[in-house]
Amino acid sequence: MSEKKKVLMVCLGNICRSPIAEGVFQHITKEKGLSSQWMVDSAAVAGYHIGKSPDHRALLTMKNQGISYNNKARQVSQKDFETFDFIFGMDEENISDLKGMANQNPNCKATIGLLGDYDPEGERIIRDPYYDSGAEGFKKCYQQCLRSCTAFLEQHS
Ligand code: 4NP
Repeated sequence: MSEKKKVLMVCLGNICRSPIAEGVFQHITKEKGLSSQWMVDSAAVAGYHIGKSPDHRALLTMKNQGISYNNKARQVSQKDFETFDFIFGMDEENISDLKGMANQNPNCKATIGLLGDYDPEGERIIRDPYYDSGAEGFKKCYQQCLRSCTAFLEQHS
């Protein structure tokens, strides 16, 4: 069997958006019978929340959609650029930080881009819902991730 294609979801803290993107990707690859072809992980640009579980609102949003999630936050490393085929940021700042890191790595093999570039509804930026008090921002993030991950898988599987 050929090696799995590897996708890394990245946001600033790895406690809200990128865990949701990872959970959604994992969930739909399983649903579509594609788990043997894809590996997904997530990571942070910043180191504020290393070792922590996702924000409780992110966990609740996933739970409401039947998605279980057990990963803990970690920071992006140089090795990630050599390991992953696709590295997706959630906003332009993530992309700028990721490209800055990739430029320092002559062995970078990853394609870096916005996850939202795959959104058929054209909502390219997945905004940070961390400072929103309600669940709406998290639900919106989930819906954006679902649309984009579904379209990405249709194009690459
Ligand atoms: P995320 O959200 O990047 O979607 O995980 C954030 C969570 C925490 C912080 C920033 C963004 N923070 O500054 O603590």
